[in-house]
Amino acid sequence: MRPKISVIGAGHVGAEVALHTAMRDVGDVVLVDIVEGLPQGKALDMFEAAPLLGYSVRVTGTNSYDDIRDSDVVVITAGVARKPGMSREDLLLTNFRIIRSISEQVKEKAPNAIVILVTNPLDAMVYTAYRVLGFPRERVMGMAGALDSTRFRAFIAMELDVSPRDVTAMVLGTHGDLMVPLPRFASVGGIPITELIPEKRIEEIVERTRKGGGEIVALLKTGSAYYAPGTAAADMVEAVVRDLHRVMPASVWLQGEYGIQDVFVGVPVVLGSEGIHKILDLPLQDHELADLQRSAEHVRELQREVDELFEREG
Ligand code: NAI
Ligand code: 2OP
Repeated sequence: MRPKISVIGAGHVGAEVALHTAMRDVGDVVLVDIVEGLPQGKALDMFEAAPLLGYSVRVTGTNSYDDIRDSDVVVITAGVARKPGMSREDLLLTNFRIIRSISEQVKEKAPNAIVILVTNPLDAMVYTAYRVLGFPRERVMGMAGALDSTRFRAFIAMELDVSPRDVTAMVLGTHGDLMVPLPRFASVGGIPITELIPEKRIEEIVERTRKGGGEIVALLKTGSAYYAPGTAAADMVEAVVRDLHRVMPASVWLQGEYGIQDVFVGVPVVLGSEGIHKILDLPLQDHELADLQRSAEHVRELQREVDELFEREG
């Protein structure tokens, strides 16, 4: 039997996750949405492209959570996307209710799944799911650092006019203005970017990375990014299903790593078949650690708001 990957939410991001996952041929993909016909139509369209794209796995669409039964991986993208002028935090209440109800379905129907959250505000939504699911921390994580890092890499590649493939870089922290891009760990073909780009320009690239989501929202006007987010989430799915031990940042429940306790925040992890195979606890410089801890405190505040919502909504 092939592995089963369920993608909840067949909107812009969900469809990209589904297509890129299918193209990697790692398992059958089930696309779920509450809008009748939407997941079925998109899944059929994707499978009709299979002969051209050359994948063999099945892609199906459904409005029924019964169809996610026994999934190996569940990616949750359902929710409302950020509109211009709307902060990620503004999304909290609406998406809290959606993620809570989806997580109840996942807990019942796919109790052994590895769950990857995408919905914003990301770290608060992973926390919501984690509370409902009750799964071990290794099996619940958020996708954001993988996206923020690919943006950072793309901007460095643009700056130096080099192939983005040869750029490695890492962004930690929360998914928002307080994210923590780490120029010290960014390199091009093994050469630290600090050797290639003046400090002032690196600061501008870091700032553009921090505002990367908003830049796309301002251009699109009717929604947020989905090509890079969908591909980044598919990267995580592939790492899990193929047990690749890929190293990338993910939002995980920290238990003392980086001096941070009981908060979901982005840190570098090794991703494999058990989900988080390992958290890489890097020796950060004082200012980097301070930025990461500030990021974590911001998420802790959001988690408090989520706790209040759980109490208020019963
Ligand atoms: P979208 O509006 O295109 O799609 C959302 C889909 O969720 C819609 O099709 C809607 O019908 C569906 N949905 C709503 N409630 C549902 C439920 N209970 N069950 C199943 N489906 C349900 O939005 P888009 O652009 O796909 O973004 C989705 C989410 O991902 C947003 O919260 C957005 O902010 C977030 N996002 C997060 C990123 C990250 O780095 N973590 C990057 C990009 C987007
Ligand atoms: C992004 O960074 C909206 O979180 C989404 O593009």
